[in-house]
Amino acid sequence: MNAAMRRYWSQYKWSNILQMVRNMKRHPKRNAELFRDKLVVITGATAGIGYHTARKYAAMGASIIMVNRNPEKSERVRGDIVEEFGVPIEYVVADLALLKDIQRAGQYLLSLEKPIDVMIHNAGAYLESRKETSDGLEANFAIHYLCPLILTRMLMPKYRRDRTGRILFVSSEAYRFAAWGLDFEDLQWQRRRYSGVKAYGAAKLAQILCMHVLAKDLASYGVTINAMHPGVVRTESGKANSRFYQFYKRNIIDKFSGSPEISAEALYYLGSSADLAHASDLFFHLTTQEELTPPAQDLEAADALWKKTGELLCEKGVRS
Ligand SMILES: NC(=O)c1ccc[n+]([C@@H]2O[C@H](COP(=O)([O-])OP(=O)(O)OC[C@H]3O[C@@H](n4cnc5c(N)ncnc54)[C@H](OP(=O)(O)O)[C@@H]3O)[C@@H](O)[C@H]2O)c1
Repeated sequence: MNAAMRRYWSQYKWSNILQMVRNMKRHPKRNAELFRDKLVVITGATAGIGYHTARKYAAMGASIIMVNRNPEKSERVRGDIVEEFGVPIEYVVADLALLKDIQRAGQYLLSLEKPIDVMIHNAGAYLESRKETSDGLEANFAIHYLCPLILTRMLMPKYRRDRTGRILFVSSEAYRFAAWGLDFEDLQWQRRRYSGVKAYGAAKLAQILCMHVLAKDLASYGVTINAMHPGVVRTESGKANSRFYQFYKRNIIDKFSGSPEISAEALYYLGSSADLAHASDLFFHLTTQEELTPPAQDLEAADALWKKTGELLCEKGVRS
């Protein structure tokens, strides 16, 4: 048993897992109130959960800004939403695994006059094999962790000025696969054998840990930040993986998966319901608050990760 296992083993509770299993059977709470004159930013809204969430907020009257990597798909989604719901919708093109693009998108959002009422960090991917970005970063780490972190930090002056807003991280119960915490000596999966599930879980765990740190600063501006598991739903997730994975996904995973409309309902409730006006630094399974596992509650690890990330971003020339 290594030090991390010894550290967390005694803190694990069976009840935590049973709670998750119970929550899997629950439907999300719904909010029927409209969201007119509000601005919602969604990353990765060309497909799956992000697409359905954009539609849901548009149906309730919100203005939308999408941050997507594909201009053709973005144009199509924009056209469909305008035609169907008649709300203002625009998009920014950015590959959110790339530091320059993340920063460019952040600059644009920072320049907005209107407050961002809800910022949904949804863009993500499940990658079977290790992929390195042109910045030399492991892709899961870049898109699921660094992107929401950098954008949130860049937007701090705006949050400080606007004194309103809710931030939602589309997380995953898969953070539990990082059962013994993060390997601080190998955050980029260069030394260990890469595992898609473990790297994805570790990036989602890192995202939750940084939420704890960001929540402290945001609290003084009246801005909330929460993470949520969107359910296991049928989306395009994993489309860049092998044909074997596609077969497995189509014939096994998708058969047991729900509709991403459920995720969109949950993200609407979390972003708009008055019940959650002051809820912050929490994890929701859809809309049910859930206790995090010991590694995800570890504030020492959160601080260590914060420090390590600061050094890494400094090395890469990122100021946020
Ligand atoms: N589906 C599930 O059951 C499930 C469960 C737990 C958590 N999640 C989380 O839910 C979120 C959405 O996933 P999904 O299942 O809806 O997958 P999806 O259908 O593949 O949609 C992912 C979205 O993210 C975008 N995206 C991916 N990489 C990007 C990049 N580098 N830059 C900008 N945009 C990028 C995609 O754009 P393109 O259209 O250009 O590819 C797409 O719009 C992810 O964070 C995922 O981890 C999903």
